[in-house]
Amino acid sequence: MPEVKAQDVLTIVTLKPGEKVALCRCYHSKQFPFCDGSHKEHPGKGPAIVEVKEDQKGD
Ligand code: FES
Repeated sequence: MPEVKAQDVLTIVTLKPGEKVALCRCYHSKQFPFCDGSHKEHPGKGPAIVEVKEDQKGD
Protein backbone atom coordinates (compact mmCIF):
# COMPACT_ATOMS: atom_id res chain seq x y z
CA MET A 1 0.00 0.00 0.00
CA PRO A 2 1.41 3.45 -0.88
CA GLU A 3 2.44 5.75 1.93
CA VAL A 4 -0.06 8.59 2.57
CA LYS A 5 1.49 11.77 3.94
CA ALA A 6 -0.47 14.43 5.86
CA GLN A 7 0.00 17.00 3.07
CA ASP A 8 -1.59 14.55 0.61
CA VAL A 9 -4.85 14.34 2.59
CA LEU A 10 -7.56 16.62 1.17
CA THR A 11 -10.51 15.58 3.30
CA ILE A 12 -11.28 12.98 5.91
CA VAL A 13 -14.73 11.38 5.66
CA THR A 14 -15.90 9.48 8.71
CA LEU A 15 -18.54 6.81 8.19
CA LYS A 16 -20.62 4.84 10.66
CA PRO A 17 -21.55 1.18 10.22
CA GLY A 18 -24.25 0.87 7.57
CA GLU A 19 -23.35 4.14 5.80
CA LYS A 20 -22.40 4.25 2.11
CA VAL A 21 -20.99 7.17 0.08
CA ALA A 22 -19.82 7.80 -3.47
CA LEU A 23 -16.48 9.62 -3.41
CA CYS A 24 -15.44 11.72 -6.41
CA ARG A 25 -12.35 10.58 -8.32
CA CYS A 26 -12.69 12.96 -11.27
CA TYR A 27 -12.22 16.23 -9.28
CA HIS A 28 -15.15 17.92 -11.08
CA SER A 29 -17.77 17.52 -8.33
CA LYS A 30 -19.19 20.74 -6.86
CA GLN A 31 -19.79 18.75 -3.64
CA PHE A 32 -16.26 17.36 -3.38
CA PRO A 33 -15.27 14.95 -1.92
CA PHE A 34 -18.68 13.48 -2.73
CA CYS A 35 -19.72 12.56 -6.27
CA ASP A 36 -22.48 14.76 -7.71
CA GLY A 37 -22.66 13.07 -11.12
CA SER A 38 -20.40 15.62 -12.85
CA HIS A 39 -18.11 12.80 -14.00
CA LYS A 40 -20.71 11.98 -16.67
CA GLU A 41 -19.60 15.15 -18.49
CA HIS A 42 -15.92 14.24 -18.00
CA PRO A 43 -15.55 10.57 -18.91
CA GLY A 44 -12.64 8.59 -17.58
CA LYS A 45 -13.20 8.18 -13.85
CA GLY A 46 -16.38 7.44 -11.95
CA PRO A 47 -16.83 7.52 -8.20
CA ALA A 48 -15.41 5.19 -5.60
CA ILE A 49 -18.26 3.63 -3.66
CA VAL A 50 -17.33 3.18 -0.02
CA GLU A 51 -19.55 1.26 2.37
CA VAL A 52 -19.08 0.35 5.99
CA LYS A 53 -20.72 -2.96 6.70
CA GLU A 54 -22.85 -3.35 9.81
CA ASP A 55 -21.16 -5.26 12.60
CA GLN A 56 -22.30 -8.87 12.13
CA LYS A 57 -20.93 -10.21 15.43
CA GLY A 58 -24.29 -10.02 17.26
CA ASP A 59 -26.18 -12.18 14.72
S1 FES B 1 -18.42 13.77 -9.85
FE1 FES B 1 -16.41 13.05 -9.76
S2 FES B 1 -16.64 10.92 -9.75
FE2 FES B 1 -18.64 11.64 -9.86
